[in-house]
Amino acid sequence: MTSPYEEAPLLRLEGVRQGYGAREVLRGVSLELYPGEVLGVVGESGSGKSTLLRVLYLELPAEGRYTLGQPGLEGLNLLALDPYRRLEVRQRHLALVRQHAHEALRMGFSSLANVAEPLLLLGERRYGQAATRALAALEEADFPTERADEPPRVLSGGLRQRVQLARAIAARPAVLLLDEPTTGLDLLVQARVLDTLRALKGRLGLSMILVSHDLGVVRALADRILVLLEGEVVEAGLADQVLEDPQHPYTQDLVQARL
Ligand SMILES: Nc1ncnc2c1ncn2[C@@H]1O[C@H](COP(=O)(O)OP(=O)(O)OP(=O)(O)O)[C@@H](O)[C@H]1O
Ligand SMILES: [Mg+2]
Repeated sequence: MTSPYEEAPLLRLEGVRQGYGAREVLRGVSLELYPGEVLGVVGESGSGKSTLLRVLYLELPAEGRYTLGQPGLEGLNLLALDPYRRLEVRQRHLALVRQHAHEALRMGFSSLANVAEPLLLLGERRYGQAATRALAALEEADFPTERADEPPRVLSGGLRQRVQLARAIAARPAVLLLDEPTTGLDLLVQARVLDTLRALKGRLGLSMILVSHDLGVVRALADRILVLLEGEVVEAGLADQVLEDPQHPYTQDLVQARL
């Protein structure tokens, strides 16, 4: 896709392939993320959305090229890094809000400790300082901070997602990856979490890749939309363009199904 902006992309994937055993799940995916934008990735169940995010999070090995326009990483193919360097890049530059909160959070630890943990991993030595920053992140995620001592185990689905979100933004990642952040929440809670994400985008200028099977969720937040079908990008463009004038028959069905 030609650049819709003047700037260079913050993140670029080129021809990325990934499979489980002999089965190819991502079949040559290319995409760009520009600074401060939300890229929405939509696709049906099994199309490879979570796999794509896990590759972007440097958690799954893959073939192809993945670059981040961050100081010290220019021109470096992150997929070719050794595991130690991959972990370092992940901790310093990336954050992932997972599809299932229990995969991301320690359900028995306090919410505050869950948010403080990545700060401590990144080298914040003073626990008090980490706790203060964690509390600020919980507030930014619109989490009721008077409940910060409660563990995610006792929280509602919506509040768990806010803890995940606070944990993800606490260290100010260059790229925030969101895997179905509102799936499974009831509609009102879903709308409130989307409001928080929108506010974060505005306030922090966060660059995000938002994955959802729900075009409505993607439409609420994305500047550009990319459609994934069986591990291939079948359509990509500015959100309005894709929603108003979808080119691929699959996208046409998706848009139609929303009306
Ligand atoms: N660990 C795994 N081992 C083997 N196959 C897997 C594994 N994880 C995912 N798959 C398969 O890869 C394909 C893509 O899965 P993925 O989870 O990326 O899809 P998705 O688009 O996120 O789906 P959903 O909307 O259901 O979350 C699916 O067919 C899935 O069964
Ligand atoms: Mg998924």
